Amino acid sequence: MITVTIEASKTYDILIGRGLLDACGEKLGAVLPKVQKVMLVGDDTTMGLYGDRAQASLTAAGYTVSRFVFPHGEENKNLATFAGLLEAMASAGLTRTDCAVALGGGVVGDLTGFAAASFLRGIAVVQIPTTVLAAVDSSVGGKTAVALTAGKNLAGAFHQPSLVLCDPDTFATLPPEIFADGCAEVIKYGFISDRPLLTKLAATDAEKLQAGDGIEEILADCVRDKGIFVKADERDTGVRQLLNLGHTLGHGIEAASRFTISHGSAVAIGMHLVTAGAVRRNLCPPETLTLLDELLTRYRLPKDCPYDAETLYRAALSDKKRAGSKITLVLPTETGRSDLFPTPMEDAKIFIENCM
Ligand code: NAD
Ligand code: GLY
Repeated sequence: MITVTIEASKTYDILIGRGLLDACGEKLGAVLPKVQKVMLVGDDTTMGLYGDRAQASLTAAGYTVSRFVFPHGEENKNLATFAGLLEAMASAGLTRTDCAVALGGGVVGDLTGFAAASFLRGIAVVQIPTTVLAAVDSSVGGKTAVALTAGKNLAGAFHQPSLVLCDPDTFATLPPEIFADGCAEVIKYGFISDRPLLTKLAATDAEKLQAGDGIEEILADCVRDKGIFVKADERDTGVRQLLNLGHTLGHGIEAASRFTISHGSAVAIGMHLVTAGAVRRNLCPPETLTLLDELLTRYRLPKDCPYDAETLYRAALSDKKRAGSKITLVLPTETGRSDLFPTPMEDAKIFIENCM
């Protein structure tokens, strides 16, 4: 088992190890000794696959466990599901010293984290990520949210977990395309700040990692990287924005496709585009783009954008990260390093044309 400690407004551990799911009750007890009741939250897929094992471990550790299950899918990360979860917490009689456990991908984690931040003005949450994306990104760092009609993640809170418990054996049941989606975020960390991670990724591939070969070390590298940015800028007003490499254009691509292009695929295309733009502007050497494209292919991710610059510009403009008349672009400047470039909107439009 590997332990990575995150130091933010709250210090907590990320435990990464095969088979950890069956020890979740014991591990929860070690960090939250006052808990008596647990609300176990999952979507129908994750609860169906792993709910009984998690519940058995929690029950064996002496907890009274209630379950909240909702249909899988991004469209259910909404206010109605959020309200249903809060009502379920109240019906189960959870108190301020009890906790919620999120068993699933980023949808489950974001929803459960936000409900935990809100119920009784804040109870503890333990994240048990079951997708690669959730393991390396959404379960760590305390961002929680649900969608409003006006857009994704528009209502939420910063609420750090008390523990993140990652059992990579759960990835065995992921459809290969969802595993690949998470790999886009793994590759992202390498190009933001972690050249050694890129070397490791070039020496393996998606099949080997999904089979569990070397996955723990790679996950640990990613959350260690994320932890540095979370510690430096928990509220996401500065360097944490580097974690958005490929995301501004990626969100535009997702929106333009009406979400038929997955998040990971859109981020992969977004990273390719901004790296190509950075190369064209002589901000970054061409070898960086060559390596990125090789890794995207190796991890079954796309790089070609199906939209023109005008469509992308319009879609990316509605990105919530836009501040006033400037947008902060995250651009690679060498292999294993990216920087923030606050850019006026007019220049951002020209930059997007340069990316194509
Ligand atoms: P997801 O939670 O929808 O999971 C994808 C699909 O995989 C779902 O159908 C789910 O039921 C299924 N699944 C999950 N684990 C499984 C397993 N082990 N075996 C088989 N099927 C499994 O999607 P995701 O990609 O994990 O997360 C995306 C969400 O994360 C988005 O809502 C995004 O906004 C959010 N996010 C949040 C942060 C953050 O910092 N809070 C960061 C990145 C993304
Ligand atoms: N997913 C980006 C962040 O947590 O800041």
